[in-house]
Amino acid sequence: MKMKLVLAGLMIAIAPTIAFAEGDAVKGKKVFKKCKACHTADKEKNKVGPHLVGIIGRAAGSVEGYKYSKTMKAKAGEIGNWDEAKISGYITNPKKYLGGKSKMTFKLKKEGQRADVIAYLKSLAK
Ligand code: HEC
Repeated sequence: MKMKLVLAGLMIAIAPTIAFAEGDAVKGKKVFKKCKACHTADKEKNKVGPHLVGIIGRAAGSVEGYKYSKTMKAKAGEIGNWDEAKISGYITNPKKYLGGKSKMTFKLKKEGQRADVIAYLKSLAK
């Protein structure tokens, strides 16, 4: 009985930290300016990189007509569908994430900015 109470207390204590990890879409829109040189997220139009419409939940390396790197093509099956954690891992260091050369050389090192830009991409899907 006492144990349950302790556990409940712990969960209440942890919950706000989880919520905090959720990014801010408004800030993320600004962060997305860094991605804009190579990506659009509101039009299905490829630039240097593939468009990012519906990226959350979309299969990796799946935009038709876009020429992905060999590494991305080889790894796409393993990645499966992009979710927040996978995107965050990838944009931290695409080369490291794919375990080989990616056509995306850009890295977004700041964790907060990654969370924000992902929140922005998520907000577009609504
Ligand atoms: C300098 C150009 C460039 C910038 C800047 C850039 N990317 Fe990319 N991105 C690419 C390229 C090129 C690819 C294709 C990678 C490959 O084929 O290896 C890619 C692929 C991706 C993918 C995988 C898409 C798919 O269809 O599987 C995601 C997700 C992504 N980028 C997100 C971002 C985000 C978010 C940002 C900004 C924080 C960003 N990128 C900034 C060039 C860029």
